[in-house]
Amino acid sequence: MSLNQSHQELPIVRTIAELRQQVKAWRQQGLTVGFVPTMGALHQGHLSLVEIAAEHADKVVVSIFVNPTQFAPHEDFDAYPRTEVSDAAALASTPASLIYAPNAREVYAENHSTKISVDGISEGLCAATRPHFFGGVALVVTKLLLQCLPDIAVFGEKDYQQLLVIKRMVRDLNIPVDILSGPTLRDPDGLATSSRNAYLSEAERKIAPTLHATLQETAEIIRSGAPVDRTLEEAIQRLSAAGFDPIDYLELRSGDDLTPLTTYQGPARLLVAARLGDTRLIDNIAV
Ligand code: PAF
Repeated sequence: MSLNQSHQELPIVRTIAELRQQVKAWRQQGLTVGFVPTMGALHQGHLSLVEIAAEHADKVVVSIFVNPTQFAPHEDFDAYPRTEVSDAAALASTPASLIYAPNAREVYAENHSTKISVDGISEGLCAATRPHFFGGVALVVTKLLLQCLPDIAVFGEKDYQQLLVIKRMVRDLNIPVDILSGPTLRDPDGLATSSRNAYLSEAERKIAPTLHATLQETAEIIRSGAPVDRTLEEAIQRLSAAGFDPIDYLELRSGDDLTPLTTYQGPARLLVAARLGDTRLIDNIAV
């Protein structure tokens, strides 16, 4: 185990063996373990998930791993921000106990050949434009959970489809962990916190909160009884006029299992993904 350079000296482990050794030692002391998987570039949203984990477990492991299998070759894997030193410094002022930051070879053996596919719930929405994405997420989350063997793991509601895919997968595979979720954190103007917000130009950053504002307006109109199809169509036009292009989807789905809804019946979720310049933003709210 090596110590990082942060003032609080939060320990970082890089191998499965070191991670398991530490988790085993905690278990021998009768302590419970929480887990927050991340790809680094940490922001307040991630840190709030650490706080939630600490409310439910004695020790919290945070993983930092930019997972290659969830990026298509044309996506931003190489450009994805890697900020381990500042991430470690940010985690030092949270209740996190340990950072797990493996390299790709530690996570994926050279000839790894296992895939995990979660049918139904991982189709449509983000999968329509990122067909590789949920397979990569399901695989890495399964591997990270089996590497750490936590009692609980916490994921953000901002990635709502991802959250439901992971809950379904954990249930289907009988992985012995409770999946908890944390609400989306937002900047004061409503923009959901995201590592990818760093890609936005100054001009795009001013437009970006329109995404959340449009979700709120649209939810209000749907709640008032207006036809869902027409309301979504008009909202797409407003987003388009604001500068989002393309709008991958704006859909009303069941909040439980993401079944498409053509009429409003709760609990429902309004989900959107749209591109602003080179940056793909996603958001969702309960209706
Ligand atoms: O949400 C993320 O940051 C990633 O998809 C996750 C869950 C850490 C898997 O790489």
